[in-house]
Amino acid sequence: METQMRDVRELTSDASKQTIQDAACLIRGGSLVIFPTETVYGLGADATNAEACKRIYEAKGRPSDNPLIIHIAVPNDAEKYTYTSPLYDKIAEAFMPGPITVIMPAKEIVPLTVRSGLETVAVRCPSHPVSRALISACGVPIAAPSANLSGKPSPTCFAHVKEDMDGRVDMILDGGPCEVGLESTIVKIESDNTLTLLRPGKITPEDLYRVCQTIHIAPSVLDKLAEGETVLSPGMKYRHYAPNAPVYLLKGDAIMRQNFLSARKEYFGLLCYNEEADGYRGIMAIEDVYRIGASSDMETQAHLLFYALREADKKGYDAIYAPLPEASGMGLALYNRMIRASAYQIIDLTEEL
Ligand code: TXA
Ligand code: MG
Repeated sequence: METQMRDVRELTSDASKQTIQDAACLIRGGSLVIFPTETVYGLGADATNAEACKRIYEAKGRPSDNPLIIHIAVPNDAEKYTYTSPLYDKIAEAFMPGPITVIMPAKEIVPLTVRSGLETVAVRCPSHPVSRALISACGVPIAAPSANLSGKPSPTCFAHVKEDMDGRVDMILDGGPCEVGLESTIVKIESDNTLTLLRPGKITPEDLYRVCQTIHIAPSVLDKLAEGETVLSPGMKYRHYAPNAPVYLLKGDAIMRQNFLSARKEYFGLLCYNEEADGYRGIMAIEDVYRIGASSDMETQAHLLFYALREADKKGYDAIYAPLPEASGMGLALYNRMIRASAYQIIDLTEEL
């Protein structure tokens, strides 16, 4: 398949406006279009067209039991596809449009392919101007998972989308780098009107509790699922966000990390806090040190994490090392992605003490 590549970074230009119309036309016709959102790029199809949505799974190599998020133009559109509740209204009022996805009971109109046969469906109203213009122009919601091959880190820039998806979709819209860099926070509204966090993101449990006065954190957010345990979010059970090289998370402080790494003999890359990077001069080649922001700046770390993992993976390292993030606030989202990228391989450097 020939993939059309189109630049929509200047959304107000006539050319971009025409491109949005062309992309909408493709989606209405059952084709696949990749578009930027504020979190990561999404691989979109008409959410009301089961055949088109089936092609999303094929293009990604995604297992059919892992449901899709439907993207809507305005928060009120959720009523067309789900049974909403006052709790949804609170979340919508506080956080939409923005990087949050809400799981609610699905209405019949949502094809079973989109929700993998479940009785619930995930809904998200993105804030990125290109996403919003595209969904409005389509007149139908867009079903879209992250635009990576299944199992790989989500793409946060046009170049990374192209690496995975050239030849697999009809069109890719280049909207520049994604601001947040990690996928949306996912919450499920339970039948007893409580809220369960299934995937952490920029919107933290603290933010949600402040607005909703309820939040339970699903065990799979922090831990590996025990054998036989049921998954609340099917996507959580797959190896995820993983480069080809094994990733190891280092638990300990800056000095412990440096001592440990100076003794390593294999060819490795290091994801490193900015203030520690200079300390590796003389220990390893500077191009193998990937700066992911200051240790206190989790927004920058979120923005750069998947980018750095994908860039590091091009080098063919024997291993990629990274500091183990603190699992609080927005750090919870970093921790959640990193334990999956590393397949839960944590090296505890504090044990030696
Ligand atoms: O930021 C995002 O959410 C991005 C952009 C493109 O919007 N999308 C995204 O989609 O991350 P995806 O498919 O990569 O991740 C969606 C997750 C999967 O883990 C899936 O299992 C879960 O949401 N999910 C979707 N529908 C669900 C449902 N009805 N019940 C439980 N989990 C669901
Ligand atoms: Mg994904």
